[in-house]
Amino acid sequence: MKLFVDTGDLDEVKKAAEWGVIDGVTTNPTLIAKTGKPFKEVVLKICELMPEGAISAEVVATDYDTMLKEALEISSWNPQIVVKVPLIENGIKLVSTLTDKGIRTNVTLVFSVSQALMAAKAGATYISNFVGRVDDNGADGMDAVRDTVDMVNTYGFDSEVLVASVRHPLHVLESIRAGAHVATMPLKTLEMMFKHPMTDSGLERFLADWNKAGLSIF
Ligand code: E4P
Repeated sequence: MKLFVDTGDLDEVKKAAEWGVIDGVTTNPTLIAKTGKPFKEVVLKICELMPEGAISAEVVATDYDTMLKEALEISSWNPQIVVKVPLIENGIKLVSTLTDKGIRTNVTLVFSVSQALMAAKAGATYISNFVGRVDDNGADGMDAVRDTVDMVNTYGFDSEVLVASVRHPLHVLESIRAGAHVATMPLKTLEMMFKHPMTDSGLERFLADWNKAGLSIF
């Protein structure tokens, strides 16, 4: 399963990129606004920090003509860029157009399998199924992910199911079990994935025994 970091913070992208295991970055208008920097500048810097990554950058218009202009502008900045499009009628129309032009898309704000089917049929590269926001409302966000993975596999769509709005490592475990293609999450959630108390205590013991014996590698 691919891992993306969900952030506009350049220090966070740099840190995640250094691990060598992160496949891309997702941003959204909220995350970009938080940086206090111009959109293009942030996105291009992210591309530079993660040169092999898929970098999602979102359109903000909701009428088709302006959405198309924005999408063509954003995608012209760097070939790594994946145009992020909200799942509204004009968004699906836009994804169909961008698919015909060979421009990669990430359909965002997907909460149901029927929405996901529309995105898959339009040729979305990624279908961003949000889980945390559903959990926040007392339902199980992973239900739609499981059904969407089944739907994509059953009908042989090329779209990758991207689990978004991931809040903790349990969401990652459930994404793996569901067979999702990608999960995107904040840096702090990725950092939590390294952690296990027995790793810490085990390492402490190894090093204490080694030092007590006065050993050295060199
Ligand atoms: C994904 O692309 C979104 O930017 C993100 O996962 C939303 O997460 P949130 O629900 O924690 O804001």
